[in-house]
Amino acid sequence: MRRLGWSDVTPRADWLNRRQILAGAGALGLAGPAFARIEAKASRFSTDEKPNSFEEISNYNNFYEFGLDKGDPAQNAGALTVDPWSVEIGGLVERPGSYPLDDILKGVTLEERIYRLRCVEGWSMVVPWIGFELRTLLERAGVQPGARFVAFETLVRPEEMPGVRSRILDWPYREGLRIDEAMHPLTILATGLYGEEMPKQNGAPIRLVVPWKYGFKSIKSIVRISLVEKMPATSWNVQNAREYGFYSNVNPAVDHPRWSQASERRIGSGFFAPRIETQLFNGYGDQVAQLYAGQDLSVDF
Ligand code: MTE
Repeated sequence: MRRLGWSDVTPRADWLNRRQILAGAGALGLAGPAFARIEAKASRFSTDEKPNSFEEISNYNNFYEFGLDKGDPAQNAGALTVDPWSVEIGGLVERPGSYPLDDILKGVTLEERIYRLRCVEGWSMVVPWIGFELRTLLERAGVQPGARFVAFETLVRPEEMPGVRSRILDWPYREGLRIDEAMHPLTILATGLYGEEMPKQNGAPIRLVVPWKYGFKSIKSIVRISLVEKMPATSWNVQNAREYGFYSNVNPAVDHPRWSQASERRIGSGFFAPRIETQLFNGYGDQVAQLYAGQDLSVDF
């Protein structure tokens, strides 16, 4: 018998997730509980650092649509309806349209990716995401040659999102990537974590994860993806361009105007634990540094 989890809230999507996880694991000829299988499959891109607990990951959140405090999303996101869900893919693509999440998931291989997540506020976690490479979806939609950036938008549904009823940000939450960043194999769309459906407070049913950038680039609960020619407006950059650049690559040498970015506090490590030294590109430099060859990272911050 399978254990009860987040999946029981949205059984249909869960079935899709689980079916794909099992299919992927089956192809590798592995046996044992689902979680162990997923872990084995993920090793190539995953860190071997110890993941944070499910409780930490799903109770210490930034999701301003549900409030400002770290505990607000876990408290308030339960009301969010995530099924049915569609993602509108448009702009410079061959096959624009409204893509139902079920259809998106049919065409992809779900993997576990254990990534570091470094928030611009100076804390970090290690999260075992379940997801697939963003580029597989973009390739399905057919990227036209003129597309240089990808813009993302989060759902706006004031009746289910108490934070949206106040003017904390100019809703919808918007983010963007340059096309080469979006097509990079480390960039994933995640639909779960710890082998389960994505908790709503973590961005159900589908969110971006870009592990070498500050966490705010990893936009949650995505309803729109647009391929565009010009660098798109992004929420935090619009809010305060001096503090939040478009690129927002993790960089210990470029401080936030109001605090240092040289070190970070690992959530769950205890109040007196020493801070960790923050790494350039959050430690993913071997894979991504070449994307920025020739760019001055203190100007393109
Ligand atoms: N996406 C939306 N739509 N709204 C948000 O407030 N917060 C961002 C990012 N994505 C945010 C969002 C920030 S600041 C961080 S650090 C990460 O989500 C946090 O992800 P987590 O709660 O899964 O750790």
